[in-house]
Amino acid sequence: MNVGIIGSGTMGSGIAQVAATAGCQVKLYDTNQAALDKAKATLEKILNRLIEKGRIDADEKNRIQSNISYVGNLKDLSDSNLTIEAIVENLDIKKKVFSELESYVADDCIIASNTSSLSIASIAASLQKPERCVGIHFFNPAPLMKLVEVIPAIQTSEVVLQKSINTISDWKKVVAVAKDTPGFIVNRVARPFYGEALRIYEEGIADFTTIDWSLKTIGGFRMGPFELMDFIGNDVNYTVTETVFTAFYFDPRYKPAFTQKRFSEAGYLGRKSGKGYYDYTEGATKPAPIEDKALAEKIFNRVIVMLINEAADALFLNIASAEDIDNAMTKGVNYPKGLLAWADEIGIDKCVTALDRLYDEYHEDRYRCSPLLRKMNREHKTFF
Ligand code: NAI
Repeated sequence: MNVGIIGSGTMGSGIAQVAATAGCQVKLYDTNQAALDKAKATLEKILNRLIEKGRIDADEKNRIQSNISYVGNLKDLSDSNLTIEAIVENLDIKKKVFSELESYVADDCIIASNTSSLSIASIAASLQKPERCVGIHFFNPAPLMKLVEVIPAIQTSEVVLQKSINTISDWKKVVAVAKDTPGFIVNRVARPFYGEALRIYEEGIADFTTIDWSLKTIGGFRMGPFELMDFIGNDVNYTVTETVFTAFYFDPRYKPAFTQKRFSEAGYLGRKSGKGYYDYTEGATKPAPIEDKALAEKIFNRVIVMLINEAADALFLNIASAEDIDNAMTKGVNYPKGLLAWADEIGIDKCVTALDRLYDEYHEDRYRCSPLLRKMNREHKTFF
């Protein structure tokens, strides 16, 4: 299979590695020669590291490398069966590239976008044959993260959707099919992990370390929300939150937090700037959490019911199937359990009661319980 990748930055180069490892002939295109050179050098380093770890041998490295060619003309992608675009997140630029690309490729070439925040329908509309367009959304780093969200636009044909699912599965990834709505699955359902943690901090209930400790100790999350926001970058995480909030017509459930905005404005971006919620400069020590089990339970319960509510509401609105929603969170962001399975384990009645308590306390729409969760509670059902 011939695969064309447009944009050789963080995502494009990772996707090229995945496709080449699966045996596809990959052409990686970028307008910037320096970006192409960097992609090539980075792949060399990654493959050498895999050899050191004993994961691949020198033959495999050669095979993967010889499956990728680095090209500087869009026209070079004309023999592609599938193209995946991973350029700058700008609709006008993407549209321009897509309509030029369509003039070079065959009629049955699938034209996909890796966009995180633009609608697939809006990108597809730039094509003569919009039915060939689909969202294929990888997670960073693409070679390591198992999940890929596949997003059909309202224009996408069933054949294109099925072919895309089959190809991505052949690349040994876990596919979750998501409706073309803001944040797809992961970037929507994960919002309360950050948002509710920030709110708990803003109310003065606990500090960053104690909140992180609570979610790791009681919930089994690998990283606490503040550690994770520092890892992702407060600028990047804040922008995703603000984009999702705006795209949902300002639904208060997705309202960004001033704390994160200020951290972002101050340049306290996290690990990459040496300071975020924590200090990453040499010799800095992390403050100790308040190891109060009762407080930790309270913090964990509040965050987990908000996450479960978001997952239930995504199911309620047919964003994806229950299996795909749970897979998305375990394979896309490494949650210890799927949120719907977690709801079954906690008890849907307890989740509804906790959410109603929050709603009664705050009278904010943010804490409204999903109609699906309430209905399931009435009918004594479980998700699985
Ligand atoms: P990046 O900035 O690392 O790479 C973008 C590349 O596209 C650059 O090398 C640039 O030279 C090239 N480019 C820009 N305009 C171009 C054009 N007109 N034609 C050809 N090449 C062009 O960006 P990154 O982070 O890889 O993101 C790319 C896309 O993937 C965006 O749509 C983003 O929303 C999406 N995405 C990003 C994730 C992330 O964690 N970084 C995760 C999932 C999706």
